[in-house]
Amino acid sequence: MLQTIKKIGVLTSGGDAPGMNAAIRAVVRTCAFHSIKCYGIYRGYEGMIDGDFVEMDARSVKGIINKGGTILKSARSKAFRTVDGRKAAYEQLKKAGIDAFVVVGGDGSFTGAMVFNQEFNFPVMGIPGTIDNDIFGTTHTLGYDTALNTVVEVIDKIRDTASSHNRLFFIEVMGRDVGHIAVNVGVGAGAEEILIPEEDLGLDRLLDSLRRSKASGKSSSIVVVAEGDKIGKNVFELKDYVEENMTEYEVRVSVLGHMQRGGSPSCFDRVLASRMGVKAVESLITGKSNYMVGLKNDVMDLTPFDQAVKGKSKINKELLRVSDIMSI
Ligand code: F6P
Repeated sequence: MLQTIKKIGVLTSGGDAPGMNAAIRAVVRTCAFHSIKCYGIYRGYEGMIDGDFVEMDARSVKGIINKGGTILKSARSKAFRTVDGRKAAYEQLKKAGIDAFVVVGGDGSFTGAMVFNQEFNFPVMGIPGTIDNDIFGTTHTLGYDTALNTVVEVIDKIRDTASSHNRLFFIEVMGRDVGHIAVNVGVGAGAEEILIPEEDLGLDRLLDSLRRSKASGKSSSIVVVAEGDKIGKNVFELKDYVEENMTEYEVRVSVLGHMQRGGSPSCFDRVLASRMGVKAVESLITGKSNYMVGLKNDVMDLTPFDQAVKGKSKINKELLRVSDIMSI
């Protein structure tokens, strides 16, 4: 028999991403629609351990669909990785009468939810929220589309100054161990080269490519470097290396950093967050647990947590070829 769910908790965990607020709104309002009480859990799993909960209704989430960050705050909790931490969290949830939760976060947050579910048979559901797009089981994570738009806008601006001074820029973008952001913004902003962890371009090929760019009469060059790139040199070392080997280039470096995680979510992320929130709550209501909601072929789908965590989200290698052709 289905266990009736009367109170659902919602938390945001790990690195924040644009669209998290829209997801909180969607979870809270779907609960209200189905006459289920909803509790916001502050500061991710840290707040769960401390019992830092707030009851939320449909009006508590007004005016947040367009806001970056997360009104519930976020954290990467070390304590939740311990048995004692998770036990304390379970006691707090029981005390508040919460009988299921939705976690918006990345693979670390899902691993935590999965272990918690195994230990306490507690219903859990995940919404993928990270700018990195590094989660298996969804073509898009929340915040990824917004981050792409933010980064493309910034690279356009850097291009203005790069071409005014005939300079070469190495621009480091986020993405942890994957190159999704780098390949897409590289094509979208017309970069001459894209360095990502999934492909080892090699320093010689980089120099060849830059020489070709110069010879073809380009006045500026942009090389997008994923933070997890494995070419063996960081962006500052790359600058030194190129300046040593190609004296004709004046090189600058720009590390975009956390600005990539901020800002108002794109329309795509707001719609995605709304769909994911509805799917997550309605899946819990129908007795499903231990899944991540995701987007596949424009349909909302469920992927078991263990697959979402273990699986690899592959970059689209066709984009690298497109980039090579475009940067001729
Ligand atoms: O996972 C999102 C992300 O922004 C990564 O792109 C980056 O590597 C990491 O988080 C940075 O983490 P923190 O905000 O803890 O420095």
